Amino acid sequence: MAFTYFFRDYQTLEMIREYVLPVIGSRRYINIWSAGCAMGQEPYTIAIMLRENMGPMIFRNVKIYCTDIDISNLFAKIIEEGSYAKQELDRIPPDIFSKYFSSDEQKPGNWKIAEEIRRRLVFEKHDLLTFQPVRQNMGLIVCKNVLLHFSDEERLKVYRMFYDTLDDGCFLITEQTQKLPAEMECCFETVAANAQIFKKIPGQQ
Ligand SMILES: C[S@@+](CC[C@H](N)C(=O)[O-])C[C@H]1O[C@@H](n2cnc3c(N)ncnc32)[C@H](O)[C@@H]1O
Repeated sequence: MAFTYFFRDYQTLEMIREYVLPVIGSRRYINIWSAGCAMGQEPYTIAIMLRENMGPMIFRNVKIYCTDIDISNLFAKIIEEGSYAKQELDRIPPDIFSKYFSSDEQKPGNWKIAEEIRRRLVFEKHDLLTFQPVRQNMGLIVCKNVLLHFSDEERLKVYRMFYDTLDDGCFLITEQTQKLPAEMECCFETVAANAQIFKKIPGQQ
């Protein structure tokens, strides 16, 4: 169930620069929730993409709340260490790889993500089916390849929770194949024709 990889669907994540950053990029607290983050591949990809598009000072305003049900109880340590076997990193473009990774002296064969990037992520074990947010005032929620495992009723409750958790005018990204439930169509505006990026319409619940 935790199948994922670095730079998965990067063309969608890169749209954050065009659609999301103009709205939240100048905030003092740039709160992002990677819901169903697996072992950090998705939130680290987002963090690297943001750093590529932000100066070092503004990047310090970013906090990516990484959550997963994590039945293995291993994700917190993996994400905190940010150390991965080289074959897991093969899809990262070479220029990005050389900029943000260095060989891990504690774990031969592994490569470690730069501390500047690691410090922006915080992991919390969390079950989306509690329908409780990890915190409020999110500027962006990314929930990809998770919702497909839920029933229609569960999915709707999760979307409602995401809606309540986002600040007005802020953003939700899901995977390409995930359709917004009909009940939520009044709550979100689709901002990109070729990706599932939704903008919260205030006052709809
Ligand atoms: C296929 S991975 C997706 C990882 C990443 N979001 C991506 O798109 O590449 C699905 C993740 O969802 C997590 N997950 C499944 N059910 C969950 C739940 N009820 N609450 C939180 N996370 C859950 C799994 O543990 C797994 O890590």
